[in-house]
Amino acid sequence: MRILGIETSCDETGVAVFEPGRGVLAERLASQIAIHAAFGGVVPELASRDHIAKLLPMVEEVLAAANLELGDLDAIAYTAGPGLIGALMVGGSLAASLAYGLGIAAIPVHHLEGHLLACMLEKEAPEFPFLALLVSGGHTQLIDVAALGRYRIIGETLDDAAGEAFDKVARLLALPYPGGPELARLAESGDPERFALPRPLKNQGLDFSFSGLKTAARLAIGAARAQSADLDATTRADLAASFQAAAVDTLAGKCRQALEATGLPRLVIAGGVGANRLLRARLEALGRQLGVRVYYPRPALCTDNGAMIAYAGYCRHTAAARDWPPRIVARPRWPLAELAPPN
Ligand code: KG4
Ligand code: ZN
Repeated sequence: MRILGIETSCDETGVAVFEPGRGVLAERLASQIAIHAAFGGVVPELASRDHIAKLLPMVEEVLAAANLELGDLDAIAYTAGPGLIGALMVGGSLAASLAYGLGIAAIPVHHLEGHLLACMLEKEAPEFPFLALLVSGGHTQLIDVAALGRYRIIGETLDDAAGEAFDKVARLLALPYPGGPELARLAESGDPERFALPRPLKNQGLDFSFSGLKTAARLAIGAARAQSADLDATTRADLAASFQAAAVDTLAGKCRQALEATGLPRLVIAGGVGANRLLRARLEALGRQLGVRVYYPRPALCTDNGAMIAYAGYCRHTAAARDWPPRIVARPRWPLAELAPPN
């Protein structure tokens, strides 16, 4: 069985082909950073247009790289939500029309289920059940994952997502979009203890709040600028490091509480912020302390990609005998908790 995966929910076009037993046969990723950078954030209409221009040639490239033809595919999985409606429609339309023409399955995939399962593409894949820390640009959730489609959200952000906070603070430091990875890079040379920033909701349940931390960072940046409008390189790095330390501390603290409360034996890190090196190191240390095995995919599988969509589609396709008519499903809002097990 070979499944093509198509990801177009936001500002990255991702295409990959997956075959069980062999893994990812070929993949391509096109980032729209250069298009949106001038605007400081994603412009939905420009995102859709770029997906339209890139997607079909990328599908052809991936098939050629895997030495396959369209007729060798057994199913096409595509991100059906959540995401930008225009961007989702581009992937859904191509997936459904190709599937219709080929007479094969078109599998609508929940983007966050893709993130949750991405670590299973690695050699050392976790088994169910596990605790997942899902940290992306739009989501920050602690999920008790019992099995495919059995997701119980036990903690989530009350305001900003972790990635959003990284991006906003990066912007305040005049770092280019997308700010998260830039801020992390700058933080590496900084002193994380120079600026005392809060760890919101510490020891208060499993929910997160990042808007207070973001405001505290904004005030600290403002105070530093009041002393010298052009922040010197050391101060910028120290601000970045202090923010990153507070954000990572907060995420790690909640993971500890959630692992202790649930007794789950494994922790899986998923989503774009999962690419953060300090976060990975902290959670690995936490796992060693608690005797919990920690799994995280390589950075390219943490951020948006086509492989995780192909893999999630494969899981759904094989888990239940049913038809997957080639319909275009596009759901800009689609809570993960609405997903059900295959049967
Ligand atoms: O999962 P993702 O690629 O897209 C969404 O589904 O949102 O996550 C993107 C988010 C952005 O906010 C980005 O700044 C953040 O992940 N991110 C990082 C790092 N790499 C990506 N945040 C902190 N440190 C990183 N190394
Ligand atoms: Zn994502």
